[in-house]
Amino acid sequence: MENFVYSIPTKIYFGKGQIKNLGQEVRKYADKVLLVYGGGSIKRNGIYDAVIDQLQEHGIAWEELSGVEPNPRLTTVEKGAALCKEKGIQAVLPIGGGSTLDCAKVVAAAARYEGNAWDLVLDPGKIKEVLPILSVLTLAATGSEMDTFAVITNEATQDKIGTGSPLMRPAVSFMDPEYTFSVSAYQTGAGTADMMSHIFEAYFSNTEGYMQDRIAEALLKTCIEYGVRAIKEPKDYEARANLMWVSSWAINDFISLGKPVAWTVHPMEHELSAYYDITHGAGLAILTPHWMRYVLNDDTVDKFYQYGVNVWSIGEKADKYAVANEAIDKTADYFKALGMPSTLTEVGIDDSLLPTMAKKAAARLKGAYMELSEDQVLEIFRKAL
Ligand code: NZQ
Ligand code: ZN
Repeated sequence: MENFVYSIPTKIYFGKGQIKNLGQEVRKYADKVLLVYGGGSIKRNGIYDAVIDQLQEHGIAWEELSGVEPNPRLTTVEKGAALCKEKGIQAVLPIGGGSTLDCAKVVAAAARYEGNAWDLVLDPGKIKEVLPILSVLTLAATGSEMDTFAVITNEATQDKIGTGSPLMRPAVSFMDPEYTFSVSAYQTGAGTADMMSHIFEAYFSNTEGYMQDRIAEALLKTCIEYGVRAIKEPKDYEARANLMWVSSWAINDFISLGKPVAWTVHPMEHELSAYYDITHGAGLAILTPHWMRYVLNDDTVDKFYQYGVNVWSIGEKADKYAVANEAIDKTADYFKALGMPSTLTEVGIDDSLLPTMAKKAAARLKGAYMELSEDQVLEIFRKAL
C-alpha cells in the first residue's frame, strides 16, 4: 500500500425525504443559485417542485440551466458559466444524473475562470477556484455526487475527456433512493454496469491493498445482488438504496487510496460515447469482458482467481485459469441480465472509426493495470464488434 491523503468531505443527506434539509444547506453558501438539470425527468417525477419549494421557503433566488444532454456538451457548460457570471450566481445546484452533475461541476469552475471552459478539461491544473456545488442525485451510476471528476464532450472535436479537482467535489449531496424509482430499466442496468466498472478500475491494480480489495468485493457483490432486482422491481427501496450508496463509494477514492492505477476501460469507452453518443454504462458492459479476457495472463491470473472466488463464490480449484475464465463469463452474463448489449454492432458501431478511437484511447493508458498499445486497443475493439 502506498502513502495517501484521505479527505472525502462531501456531506451526504441519504434517505427518504432528506430534501427537507436542502434549503438550510444552500443558505449556508448562497442567496442565489444556478439550478442545472437535464431533459425534464425531474419535472415529471416531482423532484423539481420539491427543490423549488425549499428554495422559496428559504428565500433563495435562482436561475436555470436546463437541457443538459446525456454525455454533456461543452457548449452547454459555456452557457452555464456565462449565466453564472452575468447573474451573480454564488453556488450551483445540479439535480439529475452524472451528466447533469458533471456539467454543473465544470460550470462552477468555469464561472471563476477567465478563459475557455475547455482549458479546464484539458488541464485540471487550471482549476483554481470553483463555486460551491450542492447536488441532488436522481440516478445511481457515476458517483459524481461524491467524487472529484467530470466528463465533458467537445462536439466540435469529438473529444470526450474527464477532468478532476478536489475543488469540484460537491460540498453537499442529497441522495433519496425514492428519486431513482422512475429510472428506466435500461438506465438502471447501465448505471449498475458503470459502478461495477469503477470498482474494477480500482480493483485491478498492480499495487497491493488487501483492505481496499475486500471492500471493493463487497461493493461488487452489492451491485450483483441488487442490479437485476431493481430492474425487476423499480420501487424496491432496499435495492435502490444499496445501489445508490454503492455509486458513491465505488469512485469517491476510498477503494483506490493507496493503490493508484490509471483506468483502462473508461478511456476506451469514452471514445465510443464521444463518437457515437451511446450510453456510457452500455459501452462499458460491452468492452469489459473483452478487456478482461485480453489482460488475463500469468501475471494477472491470481487477481482474476481472487475475483472469481470472492465475488462470484466460485469454489477454490487447482486450475486458476478455469476459475478466472468462469468469473469473466459470469461477468458477461450478468451484464446481459442487466439488459446491456454485448457487442458494438448492437449499438450501431462498425469498424470504420475503430482505428481513430483506438489511437486516442491508447494515448491515455499510461500507468494502467496492463498498458495497452494502439494496436492492442484496436484488437479489443474488434473482438467486441
Ligand atoms: O435528462 P433527464 O431528463 O433528467 O433524463 C436522464 C437521462 O436521459 C435520465 N434520468 C436521470 N434520472 C432520472 C432519469 N429518468 C427518470 N428518472 C430519474 N430519476 O437518465 C438519462 C441518463 O442520465 P445521465 O445523467 O446521462 O446518466 P449517468 O448518471 O449514467 O451519467 C452519464 C455521464 O457521466 C459520465 C459519463 O461518461 C456520462 O457522460 N461519467 C462521469 C463520471 C464522474 N463524474 O465521475 C465517471 C463515470 O465513469 C462517467 O464517465
Ligand atoms: Zn463510468
